[in-house]
This record gives sequence, structure tokens and C-alpha cells, in this order.
Amino acid sequence: MKQTVLITGAAGLIGGYLVRTAPRWVPDRDVRGVTRNEVDLTDGPEVQRLWDRHRPDLVIHCAALSRTGLCEQNPAQARRINVEATRLLADLARDVPFIFLSTDQVFDGAKGRYVETDAVHPLNVYAQTKAEAEQIVLANPAHVVVRIALTAGTSPTRDRSFVEDMVRTAAKKMTMTLFTDEFRCPISAGALVRALWEFAVQPRGGLYHLGGRERLSRWEIGELLAGRYPELRPWIHPGLVADYHGPPRPPDLSMRSDKIQALLSFPLPGFREWLTDESPDGGDLWDYPPTESR
Ligand SMILES: NC(=O)c1ccc[n+]([C@@H]2O[C@H](COP(=O)([O-])OP(=O)(O)OC[C@H]3O[C@@H](n4cnc5c(N)ncnc54)[C@H](OP(=O)(O)O)[C@@H]3O)[C@@H](O)[C@H]2O)c1
Repeated sequence: MKQTVLITGAAGLIGGYLVRTAPRWVPDRDVRGVTRNEVDLTDGPEVQRLWDRHRPDLVIHCAALSRTGLCEQNPAQARRINVEATRLLADLARDVPFIFLSTDQVFDGAKGRYVETDAVHPLNVYAQTKAEAEQIVLANPAHVVVRIALTAGTSPTRDRSFVEDMVRTAAKKMTMTLFTDEFRCPISAGALVRALWEFAVQPRGGLYHLGGRERLSRWEIGELLAGRYPELRPWIHPGLVADYHGPPRPPDLSMRSDKIQALLSFPLPGFREWLTDESPDGGDLWDYPPTESR
């Protein structure tokens, strides 16, 4: 009998990619994606019924309130889904592998090139709830936290990835200031979920970082994206965090992914590599399904 994998947040960017790519990367698994329309994960009895219905052999928990602004506006809701729903699912999954997606934002960005042993210091509600959930998940030594980096791709609702945000902002003819002194390790959703699937079928408990190989400034990311999405070009311009007045922004959230890389069959690509990959399998491999403007 096929093993069952439960994916939460299946209508989101990463859950959506996991479900769509499952036939390619894990054809021998029965993958069930669950959306908020089907089950509200903050509703305990509903979650219990979901569990009893599927009895999964593996859980990849992608559901979250993932927008930092919405978490600031509604910290109680952020806690309910990001912390309490995670606690409930991790408890139900106590005897099976459980993979929780966390974020590079648990760091304050003062150091950069973060490794798994570095101390966290979240600067916003979103990051605080994720850091708290990490501790709950890691209390079970068989369970896994994967902190993922800024992820590019096409979401089912076309409004979730940072690339989709930028394209929509440009369509509204709004200018975007991209900092030359703020750094990330972006990755394409296609590469990210390929790595997640490879890891998920032989998970080893603990904490992992998963991001692109290349550390890039926000401005460099924007310039690279403008090569593929020329409509961005007139609306992006460089700036300095020093000139920005607003809530605290972590300057350098770059992460090292060596620990998970050692378990993968392919090299995690840099963002530039993904955007310029013209090989026959390139778009499919890194960005599945390929974005329309490729
Ligand atoms: N994408 C990134 O760049 C990135 C970077 C670092 C970490 N992460 C983490 O990776 C995970 C997946 O991210 P993502 O980009 O795929 O996020 P996403 O696109 O926002 O998807 C999250 C999904 O969770 C669902 N959800 C929210 N509240 C729920 C509830 N009460 N019950 C059931 N489902 C609920 C959302 O439903 P609705 O569609 O109805 O809102 C959405 O479909 C998240 O944990 C996120 O924090 C993402």
C-alpha cells in the first residue's frame, strides 16, 4: 500500500508546488494536499477529523499566516495558526515524520550567512511565532524544522511569492525601492520543493536551512528579475536601508544550506542560475510549472 503524505497549506505557494510536483518526485506516495477551504487548522476537532481520515505516514506543514504585515495587524490570529495549529499537528504526528517550514526571518540579520547553530532573534510578530513553533516541533527529536529562504515562483492564487508581489506592484505603476545593503539567499520554488521531496522521503530529525547558493542584495535580485520580467524595470530603483524609516528590517538574512545540501543528489542552485537556465529541462526542473513569462 502507498504511504500517505499530508501537505497543509496546499493552496499556498510552497504547498501548491509540493502537491503539483509530487507525481514527478515521489510517484510512489499518495499525496493529499489540504487547503484552508477544506479544513481550518485552528479548529481542533476539524484537525482531529482530518487526521483520522488520512492517518498520514508523513506530514509537511506549510500552512501559515506568512505575510509579516498581516501578522503585525493580527498577532492573535498569527499565533493561532503559526504556533497553536503547529503544536496540535506535531502532537498528532508524534509517531510519524513531521516537517515544519520556518523562515530565515527568525534571525535579526546582524550577522548573515547563518548556520543552524546560530541564535535566533526575531524582530517581528511573524518571526516570533515561527521561532516559538520551531521549539515546539524540535521537542520531538524525530521531527524536522526547515528554515527556508525567500522563495520565487507562481502560486495558485498568483499573489503569494515576492516575485508576484513585485510584478503586481509594477502593474499598479508603483515604485519599489530595493536596498543594496539588504541580503538574502533567494531560491526558486521548483528547486526548493525538489530538495524538500528528496529530504522528506528519508527525513532526519533536527533543524536545517534551505536557500539558494548565492547571497544577493535586494537590488541585485530586482535587477536579475527585470531580465525576465522587463515590465519591472521602470519601477525599481536602488536605495539604502540607512535612508529607510519604518519598522526594523533585518539587513542580512543570508543562510548557509550545507547541512541539507549534504543529503541532496543535486546542487542547490543560485538565483542567477535559475533565472538564466536555458537547458531543455531547466524551467521544468527549477520552476514547475514554468512561469508564463519565461
Ligand atoms: N514563500 C516564502 O518566501 C517563504 C519564506 C520563508 C518561509 N516560508 C514559510 O513556508 C511556509 C509556506 O509558505 P508559502 O509561501 O507557501 O505561504 P502561503 O502562500 O501564504 O501559503 C500558506 C497557506 O496556509 C493557509 N492557511 C492560513 N491559515 C490557515 C488556517 N487557519 N487553516 C488552514 N490553512 C491556513 C493559507 O490559506 P489562504 O490561502 O486561505 O490564506 C495559505 O494557502 C510558511 O510556513 C511560511 O512561513 C515561506
